[in-house]
Amino acid sequence: MRSVLLACALALSVLVTAHQAAAQDAIAGEKVFTSQCSICHSVTPGRTLTGPSLAGIVGRKAGSVEGFHYSAANKSSGVTWTAQELDTYLANPKAVVPGTTMTYPGLKDAKQRADLIAYLSTVH
Ligand code: HEC
Repeated sequence: MRSVLLACALALSVLVTAHQAAAQDAIAGEKVFTSQCSICHSVTPGRTLTGPSLAGIVGRKAGSVEGFHYSAANKSSGVTWTAQELDTYLANPKAVVPGTTMTYPGLKDAKQRADLIAYLSTVH
């Protein structure tokens, strides 16, 4: 019985730690967003800047913000922005969507990309 309780306590502390780590990643990711993306993207639904709003971007089909004038390349890319797809795209946008009008060279740091995607998962 005692070992079961111990195992439960251990499992719980691992879960709590994982949760805190995810929250911290999202906080770090918000800073990356502010410095790298917010000049062209908002996270407010429907708020268009140079780029489309990124509210709810994780899991969304490419080119699906109503009223945003996408390039044909982005619109017909057939991509769905899963966390994995975003990771590849943000490292080098032109490699995933050749002909995109997003003039962003890419974010080379994998940890910064992971943090950024953790943050983007929280904006709906
Ligand atoms: C210089 C302006 C600019 C910057 C900086 C920029 N973007 Fe973009 N982004 C755009 C434009 C413009 C588009 C639309 C591209 C098209 O239609 O080809 C776009 C498209 C996107 C898309 C596809 C959206 C969709 O609905 O299909 C994602 C995802 C994205 N950007 C994420 C980011 C992230 C995350 C950053 C920061 C690392 C970033 N962008 C930085 C201008 C920018």
